[in-house]
Amino acid sequence: MDPRTAPSGSPARRVVELACGAPSVHNTQPWLWRVDGNRVDLYADRSRQLLVADPAGRNLLVSCGAALHQARVAAQALGTPADVVLVPDPGDPDHLARLELRRGPRPADAVERLATLARRVTDRRRFTSWPVAEERLALLAASVTTPGVRALPLVDTTTRFRVELLVERARDHQLGDARLAAEQRSWVDRGRGEGVPSASIPEATGHAGAPVGRFTSGAAGPAAARTGLLEGSDGLLALCTDTDEPHAWLATGEALSQLWLAATVDGLSVVPLSQVVEVPSTRGAMRTEVLGGLAHPQVLVRLGWQELGRSQLPRTPRRPVGDVLLP
Ligand SMILES: Cc1cc2nc3c(=O)[nH]c(=O)nc-3n(C[C@H](O)[C@H](O)[C@H](O)COP(=O)(O)O)c2cc1C
Repeated sequence: MDPRTAPSGSPARRVVELACGAPSVHNTQPWLWRVDGNRVDLYADRSRQLLVADPAGRNLLVSCGAALHQARVAAQALGTPADVVLVPDPGDPDHLARLELRRGPRPADAVERLATLARRVTDRRRFTSWPVAEERLALLAASVTTPGVRALPLVDTTTRFRVELLVERARDHQLGDARLAAEQRSWVDRGRGEGVPSASIPEATGHAGAPVGRFTSGAAGPAAARTGLLEGSDGLLALCTDTDEPHAWLATGEALSQLWLAATVDGLSVVPLSQVVEVPSTRGAMRTEVLGGLAHPQVLVRLGWQELGRSQLPRTPRRPVGDVLLP
């Protein structure tokens, strides 16, 4: 049963169910949880790491950070706000966080907060040409308050041009890597409540004018895939950190979720573009050429407005909560 809509048990279990709706790279859902009374522990599930695309586990921890943030938001909205008493455990690097739920007031906008969690989705369809105003990008960037993470709007023409080249270079590099393509393919239409259904990939469904993104088949070849990853009207933000280690990756995930939920409230669509950070050479170039060597890029985010009245995307699946709960 989809944990996002499963009937609730204890508040702690419900928090886990809602946290499992978080975004994760290739919908790998690389997390495990332990619930004991009002205590919720989050662990990284290394068996779900993308060994080719993500050998260091950066995207794995970014994904877990997003789930941690969604757990906090869910706990607050359910009237059991969480004190996060440990992030992460120095003695066990895969024990990422411990949350203690306590009784608290249910916020007045609890229903809206839960609805935003349920509505957040990766919608890769082409955005309208209505630009994302710089002021809105600045407000969204300011909504990111996770310590150690900065959201940088990328607005000037030269910077955007550089970023676009790097994004395309990273995608072409990955398209040419057979092991990576095979790993990626293995997460498409996987069933079993995980992975990315082809219904969520516009170029696979033949959606008109779909941007050609990371799930393009290698058979199409880099030349066929060379158009339309970014549009001039897209909003672009980079999530960056001062250090480049697991703690920073987990914090980036919290920031990504915070940004994504704020954008969802605004009606904006969000698509992470992580390839440019996955490929070491383009990650290095992002750091030196775009960020002036002053910060480490962690995730690039594309934002835009979708057509009003567009059809609803089918939700990507989730594993049953029983599969992610440790005894
Ligand atoms: C760390 C991370 C990296 C991601 N990278 C990409 C990406 O490069 N391209 C893309 O289309 N989606 C990317 N996604 C989105 C995931 O594919 C998506 O969250 C997942 O399939 C679940 O779908 P949902 O967000 O609709 O719930 C990324 C998500 C996370 C958390």
